[in-house]
Amino acid sequence: MNAAVRAVVRTALGLGMRAQGVRRAYEGLARGDFTDLGARDVGGIIQRGGTVLQTARFPEFAKPEVQQEALRQLKAHGVDALVAIGGDGTMRGAAALHRLGFPVVGIPASIDNDVFGTDMSIGVDTALNTIVEAIDKLRDTAASHQRVFIVETMGRDCGHLALMSGVISGAEMTLIPEMETSAEEVAVAISQAHARGKTHAIVVVAEGARLAANALKEKLDGMNTGFESRVTILGHVQRGGSPSAWDRLIAARFGVIAVERLARGESGVMVGLQAREIIATELEVVSKRKRETDLEFYRMARMLAK
Ligand code: F6P
Repeated sequence: MNAAVRAVVRTALGLGMRAQGVRRAYEGLARGDFTDLGARDVGGIIQRGGTVLQTARFPEFAKPEVQQEALRQLKAHGVDALVAIGGDGTMRGAAALHRLGFPVVGIPASIDNDVFGTDMSIGVDTALNTIVEAIDKLRDTAASHQRVFIVETMGRDCGHLALMSGVISGAEMTLIPEMETSAEEVAVAISQAHARGKTHAIVVVAEGARLAANALKEKLDGMNTGFESRVTILGHVQRGGSPSAWDRLIAARFGVIAVERLARGESGVMVGLQAREIIATELEVVSKRKRETDLEFYRMARMLAK
């Protein structure tokens, strides 16, 4: 997100505007927690994870009176337009501000990759690289000790991270919220891998999968798969660290185009990546829909786990 903040600020300054940052997202917007940002203030942040502006979960922003207070703060601080960077909740808030007549453009940032209107959100690629690096390391113990490693990735409602990391780390099985998979099916896949001479197995489980990582371990331990099992919950390490080259590039493209569109008088859209182009989608559409996980990758992962 820092790479996007930098791009937004420097594009705005380049177009002769002033730039202000809002601390702690919609919570800061409603409190008027704004700070002037110059070109130097966003120097040295492109390689840093997280956001220098900080963020907050703020469900209260759904209340009309809180939105009105945010509008009052924006006007009081002389702000003419807003760039909102975040996931589906952020886009719902942005759509509300647009409906109230305030110019706003959204930029998708969420490691879950469930924001509608973009192939990739900022953060997904970095998170995937972290997961793959962790699984590569876990594989060393798994192979040496002939174990099954059950690795839990983030993804409360969405299996994208789990599914992609399953394909690219060579997992025997991947469990996602969008599909029901039983412990028996996992046991069969692992036992077959054992019978084919595999010395270990990796099972990737999304945080929101119907069968949780620890529950799966308990069940597998009661079955005869040929392997002992261990659980690793990757947790918030997936949301940190220096952003990948890809994430910095899409963040820069989104930031520049978001500001250019606002400068042309556009509002109520989110910029997103579709194929190789940056395309704008109406916030009303983005905030009501969810990017679907491509289940073709599930079939692909199973095919490759031989
Ligand atoms: O919304 C993205 C996400 O990474 C989910 O996959 C995860 O469940 C959640 O954030 C964790 O959020 P928090 O940091 O508030 O616990």
